[in-house]
Amino acid sequence: MELVKELQRIVGEGAVIFNEEKMEAYSHDETDAALYGSMPAVVILPSTAEEIAAVVKLANREGIPITPRGAGSGLSGGAIPLKGGICISLERMNRLLEIDRANMVVVVEAGMVTNDLAQAVQAEGLFFAGYPMSLQTCFIGGNIAENAGGGKAVKYGVTGRYILGIELVTPTGDIVNLGGKLLKDVSAYDLKSLIIGSEGTLGIITKATIRLIGNPLAKSDLLVIFKNAKDAIDLVPLILSQGLTPTSIEFMDALSVITTCKYLNESLPYENAGAMLLIELDGNDADQIERDLVKIGKLCEAQGALEVYVAEDKNNIERIWNVRRNIAEAFKVFCPVQSIEDIVVPIANIPKIIPELEALGKKYRMQIPCYGHAGDGNLHATLVKAPETSQEEWLCAEEACLEELYRITGALGGKISGEHGIGLKRKKFLKDIIDPIELEMMKAIKRALDPANIMNPGKIFDMP
Ligand code: LAC
Ligand code: ZN
Repeated sequence: MELVKELQRIVGEGAVIFNEEKMEAYSHDETDAALYGSMPAVVILPSTAEEIAAVVKLANREGIPITPRGAGSGLSGGAIPLKGGICISLERMNRLLEIDRANMVVVVEAGMVTNDLAQAVQAEGLFFAGYPMSLQTCFIGGNIAENAGGGKAVKYGVTGRYILGIELVTPTGDIVNLGGKLLKDVSAYDLKSLIIGSEGTLGIITKATIRLIGNPLAKSDLLVIFKNAKDAIDLVPLILSQGLTPTSIEFMDALSVITTCKYLNESLPYENAGAMLLIELDGNDADQIERDLVKIGKLCEAQGALEVYVAEDKNNIERIWNVRRNIAEAFKVFCPVQSIEDIVVPIANIPKIIPELEALGKKYRMQIPCYGHAGDGNLHATLVKAPETSQEEWLCAEEACLEELYRITGALGGKISGEHGIGLKRKKFLKDIIDPIELEMMKAIKRALDPANIMNPGKIFDMP
């Protein structure tokens, strides 16, 4: 109660939540709440970086763990208050502060919904290239903390590429500005890039300066239908090695499409196909897009695609992407006991993953539907518990299957997360996939910046 009073004094009474029922929403993210959920002692909804800094100072003094939180749409448990303590939700810090057209940047608070940001700049004829599948709910601060990828990364790269500046509350309660409106900056260590993707363990992002580009004037999408997953995936490195730069090459296997169409009450053409690729091209030259599209379409047909549909109509494109964006949610609803994975391999090796997944599914007697950002080498294989498997058997099989999948991924030159992060969910597997010296370097950074180990403790790795 002392703590609550102190927090109320800093952020105001209306910005402190300590009622159990209301705090429940802050106890989990999009991972399985029964497995990973954990209640905070108190939740605060600050309005300024200064308030957050004062709370972090207090937490250091008292040794109270802090969990920064965006929209809670994460898939690795990053925003879960694992050790209780204070959950700092950025939801009230959602203002667009500046569109600086001359510098082609936008400055926003970390709690702005990513899609709101994208639409606000689009209204000015500008483009923010981040496109996580959860963009309608996720916050830009969370995207930066996880270095989110998404559906346009083949051409545009991931979130971090556009982050020019970050305002950060450090784990010891200082406010620091890293970077700025600069397009290049090698004035000593690149700490901004260290913070991007650090999963809330090295401070709380409160503000970001984000690079914009011109809004592409034209886009077109191909929906390519294949007999099976292998045929579809085999095409991905083939397309990319032509030197073409599609905006997206998304893969969806049959179960992903069928489950999501059922969830959305939607129907795609050839919903019953073995697998699909959704390929988008965008740019300013409609004729060029058309030419590239024809080239890709012909390549697909030559490699055994069953059908190639061109979707130029805005509504149709949106309908297909809506199915793609909702796959994770659909599986969560229809197959709640599951593990959504995020492996990433060099693109040339992506065809090798599909037969491995089929073998693992047979060996561990589970379905492993798969979809994702094939053009980035990043797939969301999803391990799903069969109804006849007991919970106990499932947990054993899941762990063994994951270990094997991660070993295979590593052998292909891959890593265990391309965009969702390590968080809580993959913490125990991290040591198997990275160099022990690299892990030690990471821990040394954590120790140096967060000596009291209060900033999102127990995520990525444990500190002694
Ligand atoms: C997606 C999320 C799960 O790609 O990353 O749908
Ligand atoms: Zn994804």
